[in-house]
Amino acid sequence: MTADRPAASDHVAPGEAAPDGAPAGTGLVGTGLEGVPETALWTLYQRAVEARRPDAVLRDPKAVELVDRIDYPFAERFGTSGTQAQLQALRAACFDREVADFLAREPRGTVVCLGEGLETQYWRVDNGRAQWLGVDLPESVALREQLLPPGPRQRSLAADATELGWADEVDRSREVLITAQGLLMYLQPAQVRALIAGCAERFPGGSLVLDAVPRWFGRLTRSGRMRTHGYQAPPMPWAMDAGERAKLLTAGAAVAAVRDVRPVGGRGLVGALLPLALTVPPLATRRPSVTVLEFAERPERS
Ligand SMILES: C[S@@+](CC[C@H](N)C(=O)[O-])C[C@H]1O[C@@H](n2cnc3c(N)ncnc32)[C@H](O)[C@@H]1O
Repeated sequence: MTADRPAASDHVAPGEAAPDGAPAGTGLVGTGLEGVPETALWTLYQRAVEARRPDAVLRDPKAVELVDRIDYPFAERFGTSGTQAQLQALRAACFDREVADFLAREPRGTVVCLGEGLETQYWRVDNGRAQWLGVDLPESVALREQLLPPGPRQRSLAADATELGWADEVDRSREVLITAQGLLMYLQPAQVRALIAGCAERFPGGSLVLDAVPRWFGRLTRSGRMRTHGYQAPPMPWAMDAGERAKLLTAGAAVAAVRDVRPVGGRGLVGALLPLALTVPPLATRRPSVTVLEFAERPERS
């Protein structure tokens, strides 16, 4: 999973041929995505399923619009589980909260989205002043730019997030928040540690918001037992139980603090069970989690 040196990807106007070509005359956009990049269609779809509800826990009209524009058998492949959609939306809402808090403190800051896929967070939380940099593999960036041409404060880099070359493209005069939503589970454990350490060294005073699947879930994907409808989830080599998050402090000397981000709200059974799932073991320590890592300031030279 490597890419050439980071470079702003070529822009393709909406309506032009998709990477694998959509059926002629439908006006829909084909994706050509498979393997791990295809998972961005899964997260997009879950947000859209949730957002179509009047009582949605996440407002995301852009996700609905994208699903309607893409030529892909979403429901056949991913099913229509309202619970799955709600859980996915609650995860996205955790990231939104962290980004919104950051932009409230640093209105002109930069949000770097590693493994951005077809995330529509910009349309949910942008403040009109921040800079946004997305990093993803070339095929994912090509599709994103076809569907979501970048605005003046948005930029996409076609790059492997683990190679850290993207960090040279970030304006260090601004405060930086990095997100890695739905990305790290697809990396090897050593790559996750190196990525965290590399971010902490390069962005003193910055922070990284990440999510993790628990170990039992990672095992299910690696044994090929994570299958729903027509879709087999790719193996997830990196997993972390929620109760283990303090270990992330050991990823690098500049990782200064670790903090849990808990989903709030929730509807129906999910809303009723969430407080228990977050507090009662063993699920509380073995649940999917969202975590913020804060990076040390660079020491003043005397
Ligand atoms: C599950 S999707 C998440 C997309 C988006 N963050 C979201 O939450 O909707 C995983 C994304 O990570 C990207 N990805 C996987 N490995 C990557 C890597 N080494 N470097 C950059 N992006 C990567 C995939 O292309 C895909 O877009």
